Amino acid sequence: MPKGRSTIPAGLLRHLWHFIKHINEVSFEHGGAIEFWLGAQRFYVLSDPEDCLTLANTCYSKPYIYDFAKDFLNNGLITAEAPVWKSHRKLLNPAFNQQVLNTFVDEMNKQARNLVSNLSNELGKKPFDIRHYLVNFTLSTVSRTSLGLTAKEQKIIDREYAEAIEDLLALYCDRAQKVWLHVGCVFKWSEMKRRQDRLTKTLKNIINPVILKRKSEMATKQETTRYEDAPGKFKPVLDHMLQMAHEQNVFSDEDIREHLDTLVAASYDTTSSAMTFMLLVIASYPEIQNRIYNEIQEVLQNKDDDFSKHDLQKLVYLDAVVKESMRVHTAVPFMARKVDVDVKLKNCTLRANSTCVIGAHALHRHPLWGPDAKEFKPERWLNPSTLPDNPVVFAAFGVGKRNCIGKLFSILMMKTALAHIVRQYHISGDIHNIECEFDVVVKPVTGHHIGLKLRS
Ligand code: HEM
Repeated sequence: MPKGRSTIPAGLLRHLWHFIKHINEVSFEHGGAIEFWLGAQRFYVLSDPEDCLTLANTCYSKPYIYDFAKDFLNNGLITAEAPVWKSHRKLLNPAFNQQVLNTFVDEMNKQARNLVSNLSNELGKKPFDIRHYLVNFTLSTVSRTSLGLTAKEQKIIDREYAEAIEDLLALYCDRAQKVWLHVGCVFKWSEMKRRQDRLTKTLKNIINPVILKRKSEMATKQETTRYEDAPGKFKPVLDHMLQMAHEQNVFSDEDIREHLDTLVAASYDTTSSAMTFMLLVIASYPEIQNRIYNEIQEVLQNKDDDFSKHDLQKLVYLDAVVKESMRVHTAVPFMARKVDVDVKLKNCTLRANSTCVIGAHALHRHPLWGPDAKEFKPERWLNPSTLPDNPVVFAAFGVGKRNCIGKLFSILMMKTALAHIVRQYHISGDIHNIECEFDVVVKPVTGHHIGLKLRS
């Protein structure tokens, strides 16, 4: 199981997060756009939904801080330069459509059952930190559906890969806090760079053979029945990419590796943090927990069955809790873009060669949500007529075309896991007064304490 990332000094990033949160809130009073300078660099922070969308769909490049991960992820969607990103995103979108995702539901149920079973270790004990269970669940689910490994091969992912990727992401955060290491020629000679090289090599050495093996299997057509629409069968993202590489002459082996690593890197911390908040919310409001439990009882005919895609669609209240939790407890509170051309907004023009921050945290508290914007009210999602007219104010998965490709995937995966957990356990905990920290995402600092009791 991956280790916690407890060694990160959260200082600088935490200050940055509080600073941007503050600016975000002030920006409402300034028409949703604020400009400031840090040294010679001009920054903007936006919180007006129309302006955010204009910016996000005009500028697709990311600021230099994303380059920290270039050695590892390069042409992967998060770090790719705009021209590569455009063509690769178009090619990859179909691998995440609803039809493909539906074939992952059996695997998601399987992984959710493993999660529930692992959590039984904590029954009857003191409240515990649930993070590593959720990280483990997310990593297994995403890597299984991306790589399609056998259970034996999967063990390497669960141990060595998980540990190395956690350490590498922690290293990027560490570097982000040490501004002198932002300078390439200083970083190049640092111990941190040597550690980064070792970890990157370890990760590449795990995924590269998986790609080569699968490529040769597909070339000799060893598994012709693999994609049949039968229970438990699914086409992993790796196979989609290899097929496209073969038929359309796109994606090198290195591109494929970078996309696979990106999927894992982009998913596990975001999903496990979002799920931690969801469980804490469910634990803190007994009436919400009961309503979810009752909904599950109504939807499932046989109480021990897996959840089918139709069952999951019918869990509308759970869906509302998931979205409201992501709105109020925003795991990715802001995103940034490099402004490479002048961008005309409603009331001002963003100047080229600057950096612009899109404030998801602020959009989630925008006046369009109404006077109760700061309150946790899942009911608002049950009636579309009570939701804001502009969907951009829900920015948990980003804004515009360079948004999260795993959005539907992660909602399906989180709903499946939560439904399994609530069906089996009564959850206790308290989200009020939790303190949060920010490294790659926002997460509670105080150990994410949750208690579990078996339902009778
Ligand atoms: C609750 C869970 C998740 C949250 C809150 C989340 C949030 C986000 C956000 C805000 C972005 C946009 C970042 C930006 O504009 O700079 C993003 C991008 C991305 N996410 Fe997610 N994500 C989640 C789960 C996942 C999962 C499960 C996957 C993969 C299966 C994934 C893969 C990606 C990728 C590849 C990108 C880059 C997309 C691109 O640039 O085209 N995410 N995510």
